[in-house]
Amino acid sequence: LSIVVLISGGGSNLRALLEAASDAEFPARVVAVGADREADGLDHAEEFGVPSFTVPFTSYDSREEWGDALLEQILLWEPDLVILSGFMRLVPPRVVEALSPHLINTHPAYLPEFPGAHGVRDALAAGATQTGASLIVVDNGVDAGPVISQERVPIEPGDTEASLHERIKPVERRLLIDAVLDIANGHIDLKELSRV
Ligand code: GRF
Repeated sequence: LSIVVLISGGGSNLRALLEAASDAEFPARVVAVGADREADGLDHAEEFGVPSFTVPFTSYDSREEWGDALLEQILLWEPDLVILSGFMRLVPPRVVEALSPHLINTHPAYLPEFPGAHGVRDALAAGATQTGASLIVVDNGVDAGPVISQERVPIEPGDTEASLHERIKPVERRLLIDAVLDIANGHIDLKELSRV
């Protein structure tokens, strides 16, 4: 299973995938890493000898033109699966249509609770006693697609956004790696899952 991972930040989830994929038994390979900016996480790709590309959001006049340029880069690698992992841009409809349902996203909350760019902060602000991590098939909504897998994560008294996010990320990483395994060996059928 050939995977392209898209990031915007530190890429800790990406690193976990790169580490898992470096095991010869793992039935998937990260063939390229893409970013919408000079993301720190691109260093992980370099360390694992995986090609990377950057399509800076700020270099384009519109979201659509940026999206088309991003899609062009992604398709060069002919991936079976594209994973948004800490990718902080909404993917334009043309890109979603071209890749669906082989486009999935990790989110640090128990969707549909707390969608959007600040899911961790929002859960804390809401005074929730638990949140979670979710893996979804990307559609044209914001973190609104079909849930592939998700798991609850407790919120502890005194948690900060950082401490809570650090508790969520290992769960995200496990959900992501398990889902890649299940997709690679056919236990998860994304077409089936995304049939409305
Ligand atoms: C992850 O929790 C991801 O779900 C969210 O942002 C975080 C990115 O972390 N969108 P990293 O870049 O993988 O370390």
